[in-house]
Amino acid sequence: MNKALSLKKLYDKSRKNPNLQSPDFKGRNFVPGEGNVDAQLMFIGEAPGKTEDIHQRPFIGRAGKLLTKTIEDLNLPRDQVFISNIVKFRPPNNRTPLSKEVKAFKEIILKEIEIVNPQIICLLGATSTKAILGADKKISEVRGKIFKIDNQKMIPIYHPAYLLRNPKAMPGFIKDIKDAINRLNKA
Ligand code: URA
Repeated sequence: MNKALSLKKLYDKSRKNPNLQSPDFKGRNFVPGEGNVDAQLMFIGEAPGKTEDIHQRPFIGRAGKLLTKTIEDLNLPRDQVFISNIVKFRPPNNRTPLSKEVKAFKEIILKEIEIVNPQIICLLGATSTKAILGADKKISEVRGKIFKIDNQKMIPIYHPAYLLRNPKAMPGFIKDIKDAINRLNKA
């Protein structure tokens, strides 16, 4: 089965999965991952926000525009990467996903990683870093470092929403993404 079809099947199944439904997600849209299914670089965020919920696309609101601009300024068009979230429904009032929600969705993100099979994954912020790497890590301490799990390289980096509140962290964000891009094909 080709990758696009495998992802479609995964998302179609997940959309209807009763274990992923919760009263907190009532009325919310499922927001699947998007991008190049053969991407070498993948980004994983936390959960969709309001704009993402409305349009059912990840990272297209303010934080998403910042992420897109940063990668495109580094000559990597957005449509060449794959972008997804741990939790696929927008939590109420944009709260941080609960650990039981992260747990319920973890299997899906692991399948997405397996299907896309990127060289490097950038984990955007603490929620996705904790979900994938397991331990509770402070982003400021681990950002830009490479972690290898089952031969998959992961790099925690700042979440773009953090940069909207803390623009001083922007050079570090750009550096981490630039380093990740430079590592591609040198894996
Ligand atoms: N923040 C996220 O973590 N994901 C999105 O899709 C948008 C904002």
